[in-house]
Amino acid sequence: MPDRLTKIRSRLEAHNQAHVLSWADELNADQLQQLLDQIEQIDFEALDELIDQHIHHPDGSDLPSELEPAPYFPEDMPEDEMARYRAEGGQLLRDGKVAAFTVAGGQGTRLGWNGPKGTYPATPVTGKPLFRIFAEQILASQHKYGVTIPWYIMTSPINDADTRAFFLDNNCFGLDRKNIFMFPQGVMPSLDAETGRILLSAKHEIAMNPDGHGGSIKALRESGAIEDMAARGIEHISYFQVDNPLAKVIDPLFLGLHATAAESSGEMSSKMVAKAYPEEKVGVFCRSEGKTIVVEYSDLPEDLAQQTTDEGKLRFIAGNIAIHLFGVSFVERLTADRHHFGLPYHRALKKVAHIDPETGEQVEPDQPNAVKLETFVFDALPLAKQSLVLETSRVEEFAPIKNATGVDSAASSHEIQTERHARWLAACGLDVPRDDEGKVLARIEISPLTALMPQDLQNVDLPTAIEPNAEMAF
Ligand code: UTP
Repeated sequence: MPDRLTKIRSRLEAHNQAHVLSWADELNADQLQQLLDQIEQIDFEALDELIDQHIHHPDGSDLPSELEPAPYFPEDMPEDEMARYRAEGGQLLRDGKVAAFTVAGGQGTRLGWNGPKGTYPATPVTGKPLFRIFAEQILASQHKYGVTIPWYIMTSPINDADTRAFFLDNNCFGLDRKNIFMFPQGVMPSLDAETGRILLSAKHEIAMNPDGHGGSIKALRESGAIEDMAARGIEHISYFQVDNPLAKVIDPLFLGLHATAAESSGEMSSKMVAKAYPEEKVGVFCRSEGKTIVVEYSDLPEDLAQQTTDEGKLRFIAGNIAIHLFGVSFVERLTADRHHFGLPYHRALKKVAHIDPETGEQVEPDQPNAVKLETFVFDALPLAKQSLVLETSRVEEFAPIKNATGVDSAASSHEIQTERHARWLAACGLDVPRDDEGKVLARIEISPLTALMPQDLQNVDLPTAIEPNAEMAF
């Protein structure tokens, strides 16, 4: 141990991070071991470069000069084309070539929920947790296509144990445990935003943050998930985020396009919704040098964000909703040299509680004090040879729960979920009460086990109307 400690201490000194061992003398053997193990996981040479780039010389974005809006398949494609792609996607599903993949490693700090975000009660009537909504979609899709749909879930070292316990407590929501593959993503040390010093969450522990949803590509490889998929004959991965209860886990139209359209190399495809207004805080699909990319809302120059077409629509309209399809062979190709693959890091300025390196006291910052280095999954888009974008309806597929109140909160999500299901019921001839502004005067929830799409309601025994202020779960 003394030898190990000395070596690690001089390594830290060489990288201006000696404070990490400030309290080494006070730690018991287990604590010291834990801290040294953590330190040994860090690639300090790479970290020095990142600190230089993101803390000492943050120079904003390097936006490509030639930026065009990305073309996309519109929501109102001709019906015969849609039917053809849907049939192709349906066949891939029946052939057992599709897996579901949820990224659930985030810390959900804005929501402030005490537990993994996937355990959050998300539906407007029964308060069903996010994980259950996706599980029910998988169960219903397995039944519909007569096939097993394995579910891969990325956690983080911070929430992995709690996520596993939640699944076991809920009997895996009726899914077969051997078709659920959970794995933790990588982490990065959180850094003091002024000095670049590594933050300590306790005297024996470095404050670590998950390395972003972009860490999923690497983690798919390192966890063995991608080999597991290959062994099962999976060819396509349906990627979605844990905080969007309306994400369609399985979408035959999207699959068919991704796998067979001439505009796609079958490597990575995306869904978009039309931006509601120029300043909306969503990334935008663009084209640059023949590649599809996402430009974050904060990086899109104001004049481009405001541009409109001759028909008066926003020119840069394709908002990223973080729903993608990946080809298994694409992930295999990207990660073939697993030690060298990595998407670029971005800096996120966040509040991180920590131990003051001088006094040892706990600090609870009220302003962002730390840089978290994170990778973004959409940075993989330009690595695909050809990548397509499909438009979808916001009400059908996008009601994220990010914040405790206001925009993208549970309350706003409940309204969108209710609206979607009100439309499904109205399409079956039900009277749905609405106020003068068209807002549904009820709370409505339809389980995926009841219907995955409006047509599935045709065989369901429904009332003729929804009473005002009713709370109805089907
Ligand atoms: P967000 O960017 O909304 O981050 O993640 P978050 O960590 O959930 O929430 P905040 O920013 O702390 O409030 C979008 C999706 O990406 C996943 C999240 O779990 C969510 O499904 N994600 C994010 C990861 O899986 N890993 C990460 O490192 C970051």
